[in-house]
Amino acid sequence: MNVPLNVVILAAGQGKRMKSARPKVLHEVAGRPMLAHVIDTAVALGRAAGAAARVIVVVGHGADAVRSAFSDRAGLQFVVQSPQLGTGHAVQQAAALLDEAAPTLVLYGDVPLITAATLQRLLAAARDGGSSGLGLLTVTLPDPTGYGRIVRDWHGKVLKIVEQKDAHGDELAIAEVNTGILVAPTAPLKRWLGALSNDNAQHEYYLTDVVAAAVREHCTVTAVPAADAAEVAGVNSPAQRAAAERVAQGRIAQALLEEGATLADPARIDVRGTLAVGRDVFIDVGCVFEGQVTLGDGVRVGPHCVLRNATVGAGTEIAAFCLLEEAEVGAQARIGPYARLRPGTQLADEVHIGNFVEVKNSTLGRASKANHLAYVGDATVGARVNIGAGTIVANYDGANKHRTEIGDDAQTGSNSVLVAPIAVGAGATIGAGSTVAGDVPAGRLTVARARQVVVEGWTRPVKKK
Ligand code: UD1
Ligand code: CA
Repeated sequence: MNVPLNVVILAAGQGKRMKSARPKVLHEVAGRPMLAHVIDTAVALGRAAGAAARVIVVVGHGADAVRSAFSDRAGLQFVVQSPQLGTGHAVQQAAALLDEAAPTLVLYGDVPLITAATLQRLLAAARDGGSSGLGLLTVTLPDPTGYGRIVRDWHGKVLKIVEQKDAHGDELAIAEVNTGILVAPTAPLKRWLGALSNDNAQHEYYLTDVVAAAVREHCTVTAVPAADAAEVAGVNSPAQRAAAERVAQGRIAQALLEEGATLADPARIDVRGTLAVGRDVFIDVGCVFEGQVTLGDGVRVGPHCVLRNATVGAGTEIAAFCLLEEAEVGAQARIGPYARLRPGTQLADEVHIGNFVEVKNSTLGRASKANHLAYVGDATVGARVNIGAGTIVANYDGANKHRTEIGDDAQTGSNSVLVAPIAVGAGATIGAGSTVAGDVPAGRLTVARARQVVVEGWTRPVKKK
């Protein structure tokens, strides 16, 4: 299969204004590095064209960190640009890897919100300009300061791009600016890049100079306006990252609404990963979803919950202030308020986990309940078990963790301590306040606490005069 498109993603810059040790493109938007968003968009474009695009990332500052952050991505290629002599020089580093039979699209690792739909429009417009057409994505800004200006002739034909620092007089008043994103026919692009000069105010090799080169060769240049400025906004500072985060979250919330979810307030939900919802899901304010989260039909999530890599079955209700991490919850269950489900928790259908209950690396069978103030760790709990208030599974002896087995229909009294390893038989009852360290037989009452005594003839001490 032919390569339908080459994509060069520029990510060599330092991003000084982030004031961070981390390379800029690894800063996250919606829970993933900015560069990951751009790579995904590039991959989606190729897929839409029916074959894998050739995606090349130009790295420089923090090259090793960037490369290793994407080491699991097959097919991605990296080239190092060192030193960084400008955007044209950056694309030139990738030139040898570009397939001349397909056009080349230039994207930026710090412009994370660009959509495949807009890029499709750009590619289509450039194609309409002939097989050798150049396409520029532009945007009109109320304040164009700092950007490259799109210079047109009397007929509106694009002539060139002038950088802020090289612009004079009338050029500075042009409000249509270069987003940086362009698509060009690859063979001429290589030629134009090879002929760039750095004879300009910044002594850099400007990618933008390929526009004038294309015009000189009578190649059609088509400027395509971006749908909105937010989509093409670059991230250079923590404040700009935060603004991009809001836009990304707004898009995610909109998509959830379109899938039929009810959001108490679409401005107060944060999804840092992927949230899959069934029908009739309700999500209250202040919830954070991280990694891969799946909510079945009719699930209700109360305010201020955090769900990280969790699956919740149909009809389950999660009350306010719960934290679920690497946990699986069945259908028709009730969790919280104030419950903590830690990694390895697997709850069957109809399980109830109430306030101030912590469950870790444990399985609870159908309709089992731990309604108040309990710790269940490293336990296999059967069906219809009642874990009384204050029950602690003492799974840790200070050196090793041990497992606890609790059979179906067992009940642990309030404030019981189950010292692992231990097996509690089916239907067993443990008396309140018991500390059980030996096995507890099925179907019987086991009590392990001091007997109540009443001391006859005892009197309270009296204060000495
Ligand atoms: C560039 C454009 C300008 C456009 C603006 C949009 C040029 C010459 N100018 O200007 O027309 O309006 O973007 O934001 O292209 N980079 C490298 N290697 C380099 C230089 C830059 O990888 O040697 C990367 C940077 O990391 C950054 C991007 O390219 O992600 C843009 O570089 P930057 O220096 O910010 O370009 P601008 O001067 O803003
Ligand atoms: Ca910039």
